[in-house]
Amino acid sequence: MILLTGGSGRLGRELKALLPDVIAPSSAELDLTRPETIAAALATHTPDAVVHTAAYTDVKGAETNKAHCWAVNVGGTRNLVCALGSTPLVHISTDYVFYGDRGNYAEDDPVGPPRNYYALSKLVAEEVARTAERHLVIRTSFRPREWPYPSAFRDVHTSQDYVDVIAPEIALAIRHLDAISYRTLHVATERKSVLELAKRRSSTVQPGSKADAGVDLPDDISLNTQRWRTLRPQLAAKDAL
Ligand SMILES: NC(=O)c1ccc[n+]([C@@H]2O[C@H](COP(=O)([O-])OP(=O)(O)OC[C@H]3O[C@@H](n4cnc5c(N)ncnc54)[C@H](OP(=O)(O)O)[C@@H]3O)[C@@H](O)[C@H]2O)c1
Repeated sequence: MILLTGGSGRLGRELKALLPDVIAPSSAELDLTRPETIAAALATHTPDAVVHTAAYTDVKGAETNKAHCWAVNVGGTRNLVCALGSTPLVHISTDYVFYGDRGNYAEDDPVGPPRNYYALSKLVAEEVARTAERHLVIRTSFRPREWPYPSAFRDVHTSQDYVDVIAPEIALAIRHLDAISYRTLHVATERKSVLELAKRRSSTVQPGSKADAGVDLPDDISLNTQRWRTLRPQLAAKDAL
């Protein structure tokens, strides 16, 4: 059985529907900032693995709410790792651990420097997750199912995709955790502009520029997904058995 944190979130909701044997306590039941609630959930459910999607994800809000962002993303991951023992951890991370000036980042490329406080907190959270006895850090990036804005950046490149495209990929990896020998895995799709991605689900979206965004955005934050592209068919074949 899998214990999922962040089950009410965008990714968590999708994963809940895709994983066969999953329990997803609410943030009131399992509050990452309250270690006793983590210990209680682990003792009650004795999961085979913990999939950690919960995080403080408000990038703009994190700039003014640093203590809370840190407490959830770094402190919360630490509280979880401290309680895990030998239970495997799948930690969901982000392309934002990279600076985003050159793109095609591979799993072992140097991370940082972080562009904002959210990115810093996720970068440190990854390092904490790596102290778990058994862990897989999945770096990914996704959008909600529908493109929510009237415009999209033509000058920002990414390998992100819609959450209903990304979640089945992550679920496939989770179903076959034992067959994954890597400690870090990039799960994303091909490099494209944000505008190209937006056009796949919106017929009215207009080209925009990052110069008008009012926040510091990357040029190219795309992830190299060669590892996943090699692994994926092997895992899909196991699924088909
Ligand atoms: N969205 C993206 O573009 C993106 C890109 C790359 C990586 N990621 C990563 O993917 C993961 C999922 O992101 P998302 O966009 O699906 O998140 P989201 O929709 O913002 O949901 C966040 C989840 O975390 C839970 N949570 C917040 N504080 C908590 C606490 N103290 N204790 C327990 N649970 C808590 C929330 O519970 P409540 O609903 O009860 O508050 C919610 O279920 C995150 O790790 C994020 O960093 C996201």
